[in-house]
Amino acid sequence: MSKDTLTVTDNRTGKTYEIPIQNDTINAIDLRKIKVSSEDFGMMTYDPAYMNTAACKSTITYIDGDKGILEYRGYPIEQLAEQSSYLEVAYLLIYGELPNAERLKWWEYRISRHNFIHQNLIDLIQAFRYDAHPMGILISSVSAMSTLFPEAKEVDDPAVREKQIWRMLGMIPTVAAFAYRHRIGRPFNFPDNSLSYTANLLYMMDFMNQRDYEVNPVLAKALDVLFILHADHEQNCSTATMRGVGSSRVDPYCSLSAAAAALYGPLHGGANEAVLRMLQHIGNVKNVPDFIDRVKKGEGRLMGFGHRVYKNYDPRAKIIRKVAYEVFEATESNPLLEIAVELERIALQDEYFIARKLYPNVDFYSGLIYQALRFPIEYFPFLFAIPRASGWLAQWQEMLEDDEQKIMRPRQIYLGEARRDYVPLDQRS
Ligand code: CMC
Repeated sequence: MSKDTLTVTDNRTGKTYEIPIQNDTINAIDLRKIKVSSEDFGMMTYDPAYMNTAACKSTITYIDGDKGILEYRGYPIEQLAEQSSYLEVAYLLIYGELPNAERLKWWEYRISRHNFIHQNLIDLIQAFRYDAHPMGILISSVSAMSTLFPEAKEVDDPAVREKQIWRMLGMIPTVAAFAYRHRIGRPFNFPDNSLSYTANLLYMMDFMNQRDYEVNPVLAKALDVLFILHADHEQNCSTATMRGVGSSRVDPYCSLSAAAAALYGPLHGGANEAVLRMLQHIGNVKNVPDFIDRVKKGEGRLMGFGHRVYKNYDPRAKIIRKVAYEVFEATESNPLLEIAVELERIALQDEYFIARKLYPNVDFYSGLIYQALRFPIEYFPFLFAIPRASGWLAQWQEMLEDDEQKIMRPRQIYLGEARRDYVPLDQRS
């Protein structure tokens, strides 16, 4: 008869242990009873980069990396991208269910009520050099919010938590737009609440007193779809950071600022920026084979390819590829698209990439769309961070409400010097 347990024999002692299995997982702490002697600390698992360790139970996002499936609260990403809006998806992530019409209106109102930023934040943004990287401005502005809303440290109060969520989702696009306007030396546009979340962002960035100004609805919709695709991705580096920092019970502004810092790295949300720089560096379709050869020799990576979890085409990349063509119909075509398509074509039939299951990820085409929308390249990771804020906040809230969670504190295997006595300075060689 099958039993949901794992039997382990320790060959050092000959002892056998029976360990319960739940959700195809064993509890790491159950290994602690495997000891050589009673003074022994007990067995641990070693898992650098958490390659095979589940650090939480979650009901937010489901990924099947082998089949290329991504679902938020059970809804397939393809259906959400096609039929939903970013703010509706943000509600779904945070509250667990799709809103009815009345709740959606309420939610949109709550977010738009919080999209003005404090004058101190405006002063802070203006204190940056004109060429400061926008992610530096995001990270600093969000952590500065922690000083403006000190009540946010009441993280165990659900009503206080909810208000900080509205504030962050409201204010982050405004910080994004102001950081952009600061960079190009133009006055700031304050939010227009008659517009959708993404149309308002484009308006705040673009508007220059033109007569009959209207945000291009195709571009606002494309950005909205990109926002849906980027909203959450379970326990990636930045989300794990949000949970890890938040587990100290610090306020969510500090946690989100840390998560944004993690996202900034070129192996994570900074990859969209790196893809564009790579395409510019390749410069011409005829240089693609040579570039691929250099990647295979280990002289760099094909940015926008590969994923820790997806060992199949990233479902987000499939949707983004389609959006890219729609955007290029509304804008002028991007010559770098041709290079990207050729890179993808060659890589997908090359043994190096096939053997390692390297497929285009979400960042491979998103940068081309952002560029068509005329965002500067440095701006791309910020455009990833705006929608990811809803995922980070949903995950943060779930962590706080989870009785099994505590302050995050991994173990280590100490391999340094054994105890030794201090040597005074004049006796050291
Ligand atoms: N180009 C060339 N070779 C690669 C690439 C790549 N993009 N990605 C992985 N490999 C190779 C790697 O060299 C290794 O080969 P070998 O076994 O011969 O040493 C093998 O594939 C496994 O790579 P890994 O680094 O162990 O895989 P990982 O799961 O630790 O890394 C990754 C995942 C996303 C960091 C990596 O694929 C990568 O650096 N990709 C490029 C950066 C990128 O596009 N990042 C965006 C990720 S999706 C958005 C997000 O989550 O933020």
